[in-house]
Amino acid sequence: MIPLRLSEIARITGGRVCDAIDAGGPDAGGPDAAGVDTAGVDPLVDGPVVTDSREAADGSLYIARVGEDLDGHQFVAAARSQGAVAALTSRPVADLPSVVVQDVQAAFVSLAHALVERNAKAVVIGITGSSGKTGTKDLLWSVLQRHGETVANVGSLNSEVGVPLTVCRITPTTAYLVLEMGSRGMGHIDYLTQIAQPQIGVVLNVGTAHVGEFGSREAIGMAKAELVQALPATGFAVLNADDPIVSAMAGQTRAHVIPVGESALAAVRAVDITIDPTGRASFTLVTDQGSARVALGLYGEHHVGNAVAVAAVALVVGMTLQDVATALGEARPLSRWRMEVHERADGVTIINDAYNANPNSMRAALKTLAIIGKDRRTWAVLGEMRELGPGSITEHEALGRLAVRLNVSRVVAVGERTQPIHSGTQRLGWNGEGSTWVQDVDAAYELLQQELRPGDVVLIKSSHDAGLRWLGDRLVDDTWSEVSS
Ligand SMILES: Nc1ncnc2c1ncn2[C@@H]1O[C@H](COP(=O)(O)OP(=O)(O)OP(=O)(O)O)[C@@H](O)[C@H]1O
Ligand SMILES: [Mg+2]
Repeated sequence: MIPLRLSEIARITGGRVCDAIDAGGPDAGGPDAAGVDTAGVDPLVDGPVVTDSREAADGSLYIARVGEDLDGHQFVAAARSQGAVAALTSRPVADLPSVVVQDVQAAFVSLAHALVERNAKAVVIGITGSSGKTGTKDLLWSVLQRHGETVANVGSLNSEVGVPLTVCRITPTTAYLVLEMGSRGMGHIDYLTQIAQPQIGVVLNVGTAHVGEFGSREAIGMAKAELVQALPATGFAVLNADDPIVSAMAGQTRAHVIPVGESALAAVRAVDITIDPTGRASFTLVTDQGSARVALGLYGEHHVGNAVAVAAVALVVGMTLQDVATALGEARPLSRWRMEVHERADGVTIINDAYNANPNSMRAALKTLAIIGKDRRTWAVLGEMRELGPGSITEHEALGRLAVRLNVSRVVAVGERTQPIHSGTQRLGWNGEGSTWVQDVDAAYELLQQELRPGDVVLIKSSHDAGLRWLGDRLVDDTWSEVSS
């Protein structure tokens, strides 16, 4: 965070500074409720900006958001006890001096915007796509931080809250601000780009994630295109040349377009891709600066597409080809439950990829399972892919069929809406031996406990569902010992 006095935050947000009111005094009402306009109280905010009081630290500004279930104003005291020195609120509060505004979200965004403007040298990079935003953001962070101080979203904090939280972490010496940008509707990415205008925009792919909300893939494409529309003429649009909806976005940006992918049309290209028996990909990175061999430390061929996008960004900001290739090869997974590969002492391999799922990432994960599990017994423990709208049943059936075609030995479909995965396997002639439907995670756990044998490989994957993530963790004894050799 770039340190600011509370009075400066008030100026930026159009709010007014109020001292902490008496605990017994008025703490309800609008921004005009009693609170002492004060010249004297002006703490320095130099700790993290937080929306979760439990994450407050010394010098923090606590943003009191009002959500559907909870009113953040109730946690001001908790934030203070963690070290917060001030709050951004919509009414005066006890326990902390605050800046009181009409609209906390709008004020939060204004603050983030003002902070990024105070470091004009930071290059802002936006990343969007249906699958792989967090993985690509992590990979880009791993590469760029070798070249300059880099701030990127924690985990998958990619929303109207997560993006300003990330932007507020900028410091006077930040060189790169990497922003994963999520979208659940038209205008969402546009909103995020106004918080911090990207100079470089990466669009990874347009699949069917959230198609239930958008209506069609084309509509998803329009929503993702908001990122490249926001780029300036001096900027760069890094577009997946292998995805027709993404490459068509070239016509919607003023920025210089860098096509990336496996296509011959790509300016930053992956050729001669090989996958080793552990499921990790190697490829030759071909650019106009020459070519270099890259051996990824991440599991799954799908990371190749993400890696060429990262390479394009790193080259644009001035890294050398060799440094990029080395950095890509040395990067390891940073965010949990994405292709985490664990080797158990008894020889069972668990692949916990249960952070989320959509048809594309399911396909990618099943292919990796088939590679890692070549000549071994393989299990696909699959939960529901949510938000697929009317195509949901067909997509789940297709998943079951794909598992059969990839020679997965055993399919375990977990939960109410996964019956079509099971029936998909039956359509391809499985007689019930290879596929089992279970009601819930506990039943899946029991089944696996009974039947897993040394040498088996188990993929665990579903849409956001804590249950399957913990199933994966439980199967590796609740410890996460990522295999990095
Ligand atoms: N290019 C890709 N194509 C298909 N699947 C991918 C790709 N990159 C990553 N994945 C897989 O997609 C899943 C989600 O990855 P990740 O969390 O990076 O995506 P995301 O776009 O950030 O998702 P969210 O919308 O939930 O933020 C993981 O299983 C990951 O292995
Ligand atoms: Mg994400």
